[in-house]
Amino acid sequence: MAKVIAIANQKGGVGKTTTTINLGAYLAANKNRVLVVDLDPQGNTSSGLGLARDELSGDLYDVLLEGVEPAAVARETAVKDLHVLPASPVLAAAEVELVAVPQREFKLKQALEKLDYDYILIDCPPSLGILTVNGLVAAHDIIIPVQAEFYALEGLGHLVQTVQRVRRGLNPALGLLGVVVTMHNGRTTLSTQVHEEVKRHFPDKVFDTVIPRNVRLAESPSHGKTIMHYDGWSKGARSYKALAKEVEHRVAKKAADNKKAVKK
Ligand SMILES: Nc1ncnc2c1ncn2[C@@H]1O[C@H](COP(=O)(O)OP(=O)(O)O)[C@@H](O)[C@H]1O
Ligand SMILES: [Mg+2]
Repeated sequence: MAKVIAIANQKGGVGKTTTTINLGAYLAANKNRVLVVDLDPQGNTSSGLGLARDELSGDLYDVLLEGVEPAAVARETAVKDLHVLPASPVLAAAEVELVAVPQREFKLKQALEKLDYDYILIDCPPSLGILTVNGLVAAHDIIIPVQAEFYALEGLGHLVQTVQRVRRGLNPALGLLGVVVTMHNGRTTLSTQVHEEVKRHFPDKVFDTVIPRNVRLAESPSHGKTIMHYDGWSKGARSYKALAKEVEHRVAKKAADNKKAVKK
């Protein structure tokens, strides 16, 4: 069964999409079959992976609201074993239309259950609406990217509350796999301070890997490439490669702990 991870933070511009694309690429390079789900109507994950809108044979809207099979909409990318369930602006309508649908919080979960991958990464939109809730209900775990800047922790309380609400009613097993600090500038004390503050706020949850601010990471989506293909030796590439390793370790450790708990 696929390990499903939602990349979530309702703040825009913190590195959700960059993390989804590049973590996905390195998980695929480590011999995993990976699907990234573009749950943001802006479609940045889809375009960042080189998909042109007019080439799409449907998008996540069709899966969530028209009952189209996800396998019919998923597309291959230039990275071997990395597929994408694309989004287009039509998906914005789902935020409204889902409200009237029975089992509206479970639509994505039901769709993804039919798929066979090792990892499914869900790139959430910058809001805490019904699309993000679908992402949190479908996921086993979440990863929260936090930008190393002054207001980094502001608003995270709302995200944590939403996660707790989802745990109470819709998805009791939802875990926090980790918090990743993004766009870190090693030369500023502010970045270091924010990193320390995030660690205090989320003890034992912050990934050792820190994603540096790196211009190659910002350039790669306009070429429709992951950092692995755009500049595999850049600092940004090396950081996402290390993050993929850490994610695999944490996932393996959780699976082992769960097994032990079942035996007891
Ligand atoms: N580590 C980084 N270094 C430099 N630019 C980055 C980095 N991570 C993301 N960016 C850029 O910052 C902007 C916001 O990142 P993005 O991943 O789209 O955030 P989100 O999905 O949370 O809105 C994008 O233009 C992206 O290319
Ligand atoms: Mg995004």
